[in-house]
Amino acid sequence: MTVTSAPAALPPLAARARTVGGSPVREILAVTGIAAAFRTVLEESPERALQYSTTEGEPALRSGLAARVTAQGLPTDPDDLLVTTGSQQALSLLASALIDPGDTVLVESPCYLAALQVFGLAGARILPVPGDADGVDPAALEELVRTERPKLLYLVPTFQNPTGRTMPAARRAALATTAARHGLWIVEDDPYGELRYDGERVPWIASFPGAADRVVLLGSFSKVMAPGLRLGWLRAPGALRRACAVAKQAADLHTPTLNQLAAARYLDVLDGHVATVRAVYGARRDAMLAGLADALPAGSTWNRPEGGMFLWARLPEPYDTTALLRRVVEHDVAYVPGEPFYAADPDRSTLRLCFVTQTPEEIAEGLRRLAAGLSG
Ligand SMILES: Cc1ncc(COP(=O)(O)O)c(C=O)c1O
Repeated sequence: MTVTSAPAALPPLAARARTVGGSPVREILAVTGIAAAFRTVLEESPERALQYSTTEGEPALRSGLAARVTAQGLPTDPDDLLVTTGSQQALSLLASALIDPGDTVLVESPCYLAALQVFGLAGARILPVPGDADGVDPAALEELVRTERPKLLYLVPTFQNPTGRTMPAARRAALATTAARHGLWIVEDDPYGELRYDGERVPWIASFPGAADRVVLLGSFSKVMAPGLRLGWLRAPGALRRACAVAKQAADLHTPTLNQLAAARYLDVLDGHVATVRAVYGARRDAMLAGLADALPAGSTWNRPEGGMFLWARLPEPYDTTALLRRVVEHDVAYVPGEPFYAADPDRSTLRLCFVTQTPEEIAEGLRRLAAGLSG
């Protein structure tokens, strides 16, 4: 082989790539700060970080979390919390602790898909509660609670997955009252609440009168730190929390010590990171909202979530989003059809769009492709 001359310089990157600066992906994923937290923990307390821990969770993480939840309006002691391997595990633990086969579980319509899986695997009879753009309808809930004697109501009240909708305070209060009056557990799953781009924070259902001894609040680090850490938590009344701890002991003894200690350190800087993420995601939501009218067929409707990751759209008759997806994917773009999110009677004209993973420019391009895919 002969070497002729030094290769010529390549043409420069596109202007957009040169001006973007530091990698938004790295910033959004908090890579540098999390890596530093892991290094510090391994340098300062390797024996502890690599040892077994308690099932309830590392004291440093529980106290940091308790302070955070308290600061957000719900007085919480570290002992009120159980650290879980993602909030998905919290759902499994609650199902083990609460659900006997045949028990009735009420869910939103539509509902977070993997919660339907958990309750289904536990042998529950799953019934959807009718609702609207503000979430479940309190009168419909009251009726179902009286006629069906459910054990549990599962809700994502803030920036729901899949719809992005948020339940107003008055409804939360009504639900807490219904639960108190009829003896119902409420599972309030809140992985998205910190991702608010505008509007006012709505208090957790757990903080309303009547809720204290019957609402389980779930939180997660997946959307504000990194999903690969597999860190979540549940805040539950004593007897239920202890039953969940027994179920967790059987499932995995405890959540990885190293991850817990690193997250406890990262909590000190989490607010700054969340502020960065909010600004980036908020701009992405706006980019999607700006392009939707041109992308979806005439007669479509969609919402404008104040936070979270998703928005929900409904196409006019006779569009079937499950059937259409194959055609749309040929244009190298995708959405999630609404159908699997329904416990019963799916609305096949609905779809979920995620607005956080692409840049505004990519979102604009994705919407152009979506329009092409939908128009055949
Ligand atoms: C409503 C809801 N609950 C729970 C989870 C699971 O999150 P984690 O990664 O904490 O297990 C998700 C993940 O998308 C979710 O949307």
